[in-house]
Amino acid sequence: MVSDGIPTPAFVINERKLEANIASFNGALRGIWSNAQLAYSVKTNSLPWILRKMSQEGVWAEVVSDEEYALALQCGYDDSRIIFNGPIKGESFIKKAFRGGAVVNLDSRADLDLCARFAECDSMVGLRVNVPTDLFDAGDIGVFDGGFRFGFDCPSGGFSDALEAIAPALRRGARIGLHLHCNSVTRSESVYRTIAKYAVAVMERFEIAPAFIDIGGGFFGGVEGKPTPESYLSAIHEELACCVDPASTMLFLEPGSALIGSTTDLVTSVLDVKCVGDASIVTTDGSRLHIDPLWKKNAYLYSLGTSSVAICPKQVVCGYTCMDHDRIMTIADRPALQVGDRIIYHRVGAYSMTLGGMFIRYLPDVYVDGPSGVVKVRDTISVEDYIAINSTGDLNHRR
Ligand SMILES: Cc1ncc(COP(=O)(O)O)c(C=O)c1O
Repeated sequence: MVSDGIPTPAFVINERKLEANIASFNGALRGIWSNAQLAYSVKTNSLPWILRKMSQEGVWAEVVSDEEYALALQCGYDDSRIIFNGPIKGESFIKKAFRGGAVVNLDSRADLDLCARFAECDSMVGLRVNVPTDLFDAGDIGVFDGGFRFGFDCPSGGFSDALEAIAPALRRGARIGLHLHCNSVTRSESVYRTIAKYAVAVMERFEIAPAFIDIGGGFFGGVEGKPTPESYLSAIHEELACCVDPASTMLFLEPGSALIGSTTDLVTSVLDVKCVGDASIVTTDGSRLHIDPLWKKNAYLYSLGTSSVAICPKQVVCGYTCMDHDRIMTIADRPALQVGDRIIYHRVGAYSMTLGGMFIRYLPDVYVDGPSGVVKVRDTISVEDYIAINSTGDLNHRR
């Protein structure tokens, strides 16, 4: 196994799989909406190696803060290959984005004002649309009190106010687009059908001929038995085709999980095994912080590296932290794990290695399994790094 000689805990990214996930989206776009562009959602996993790889593969960067914008620039992007989203853009970065030809999707009162002042002729200005939650199957999106947080709301007049606010920019020749990202729990095609249908309703009601439509992210990718890029794009195309010409209206997709999620393993080792009641408590050098920093999951795709032949009816696999609820999963009737055995969690590349914090121990190493073998691309944070990150520049504070 690729990870056999690697000190744990460590993430391992499969580069070929990442390339295959990108190729699979690009292949579907070529067939269904050739005037389209993928933009990788930086927040999903902002590891610099990944951003450089995405840039080399021709995937744009989708960023939601000034910091992510600056990070993308340092990892090989220029403004003209960035989509700038979110409600917290700073004035200097939004001005830079307009000047440099980024796509800027507006989602706050401040964004609208800055757009009216600074967007230029040919600036790509998107209005984020708040898609009403009651249009979705309840099971698709979970429960939201009062609707989605993001976007301008059409029924209450927020969207028409936003249109009015950016009118000066449109008169100067800025090009308008619509942005409609919605989070779902099922990532099903029907979610994208609903989003695309609503885009049509908005275009018709407000007589907008958009230069682009940005459907956002939230797709599956690289996972057998789940919707494919073709199935998502067919649904989106079927709904939009009545109102939009793919030859003249650009389509943006902002996948994060679909590109990186399925490519990555976390390799951990067993540190201790002991009996408590009817269960074996297996303490490992991984943690929920690494692969489930939002503490929501309870099941994983995993493999065991053990020579044990005895079967244990109940093993509670735990993380290294001293939190009792750092329990990663409970496994039944599997080989009885021993100290030094390995547990490898698969498909854990999204919302993991750059979201988990530095609690008790610091961030694990990251390796890439690529054409030149297995190469380390992130070193674990040392105690010195930790002090530097958590101090002011004054050396006295670093002691
Ligand atoms: C605006 C936007 N685009 C893209 C994404 C990426 O989503 P995912 O990683 O699920 O593909 C998100 C995630 O919340 C988002 O908010």
